[in-house]
Amino acid sequence: MPDGPAPRPLLHFAPERNWMNDPNGLVFHKGRYHLFYQCNPDGVTHAHLSWGHASSTDLVTWAHHPVAIRDDEDGEIFSGSVVIDHGNTSGFGTADAPALIALYTLASREPDRQSQALAYSTDDGMTWTKYPGNPVLDRGTTDFRDPKVFRYEGPEGSYWVMVAVEALDRQVLLHRSDDLIHWTFLSSFGPERAVDGIWECPDLFSLAVDGDPSDVRWVLLISLNPGGIAGGSGTQYVIGHFDGVTFTADADATGEEIDWLDYGRDCYAGVTFDGLAREERTLIAWMSNWDYVHSLHHTEGPLQHGMMTLPRRLSLVRADGRLRLRQRPVSAPVAEETVVADAVVGALTVVAELLEAARISVRIDTQDAAGFALSLRCDAAGEGGVVLSYDRDARELRLDRTAEGAAVHESFPSVEQMPVTGGPLVDLVIWLDRASVEVFADGGTRVLTDLLAPQQGSSFAVQGIGGDVRVERIAVAGAVPVAAEELV
Ligand code: FRU
Repeated sequence: MPDGPAPRPLLHFAPERNWMNDPNGLVFHKGRYHLFYQCNPDGVTHAHLSWGHASSTDLVTWAHHPVAIRDDEDGEIFSGSVVIDHGNTSGFGTADAPALIALYTLASREPDRQSQALAYSTDDGMTWTKYPGNPVLDRGTTDFRDPKVFRYEGPEGSYWVMVAVEALDRQVLLHRSDDLIHWTFLSSFGPERAVDGIWECPDLFSLAVDGDPSDVRWVLLISLNPGGIAGGSGTQYVIGHFDGVTFTADADATGEEIDWLDYGRDCYAGVTFDGLAREERTLIAWMSNWDYVHSLHHTEGPLQHGMMTLPRRLSLVRADGRLRLRQRPVSAPVAEETVVADAVVGALTVVAELLEAARISVRIDTQDAAGFALSLRCDAAGEGGVVLSYDRDARELRLDRTAEGAAVHESFPSVEQMPVTGGPLVDLVIWLDRASVEVFADGGTRVLTDLLAPQQGSSFAVQGIGGDVRVERIAVAGAVPVAAEELV
């Protein structure tokens, strides 16, 4: 390994040091996006869980802040959420200067117990005080966790709702409160659909279908581990209705089929920001998998500390006669696009000098072929690298990272599969970073996120399978360096 600081991802949030897992307490407040996250302040292992903190005005440039909420003798600070207490319902702020309220899981060992606890901040999230009456919601169980709180305004009234999981029971539990301190049970959801792993990190929010405010549905996100579509950690979503008490899945929205937020191996524990308008609902997920994350933290380089996915704006769209969640990256530090291939017909097109990080937009016509293979980070002859292929008959995209990462962990090399609408013409947007790839297909209703082992080659190639393909267009927008913000 060369001396000097390890190369960091260029487009993705990564902590400056130590261990990171789930995003926590995502909140947009006074013009800043706050990202708290599971961290170990003292090392690169999953221990001493506390909340790290960063903030940004544009979701691109992040300022790193001191650890926000630290573990103590009562237990570790597991995942949770933050809301702005506008009405000062808790009494921890004032009507003019609302407090930020964090609800998190207090995970104690003696006794083995997980309960929900509260901390408040009266300085816009910079310092936090744990509520002396913690915990605020305790069921006396060992795996009750990951509270996501939101303000419900509807026919039933206006109050706080918390969704959390009884992880081992594969159940999402809903509670309500008027003051964020006293909670009463509303209802539960599950177990159903994907249940081959414990349920974690739920989120519940409303979105308008095709932007129509008169057709609003609710989306329940449930991360599960293992049992994800690509193996190990994954996230399913359920579209339905929430009447202020009960979440009910819509029969017409999803049927019995399981809907997956992401078909890759490295998109987990994703939750959305509080404090944004419905049409700005934005998700950030942890870009990793519990199958091998413990090994990643012992590597050097961009995988070491973990990273988050690009922030993704969510919407609901009707596609193929059913509703789907659409994800679109909000913003990222990339330059103007350069068209690197334009109407090229042939068996093999090689584009050299692929940037380390870039947004790559491709449009390929497979009219005279059975599909194509797109190699990222391959050598100048088109060999090696990560291969994204399209199988027209199977209507499937595959991402093959088997050439990478056997040294990282035995279960790291893998081939992911993602169903797509299909047809001869394929449009993809691929976000490549130093150690990750995010593929957006079908307009963002199909997404595949994978970590990658450190880069091998620096070319990319498109090759027809079963015939020549016509590369209508390949456009690349390379990453531009962003300076870290000053600490605020
Ligand atoms: C999900 C998770 C959560 C828990 C946290 C602990 O990755 O297991 O359920 O709160 O991580 O770090």
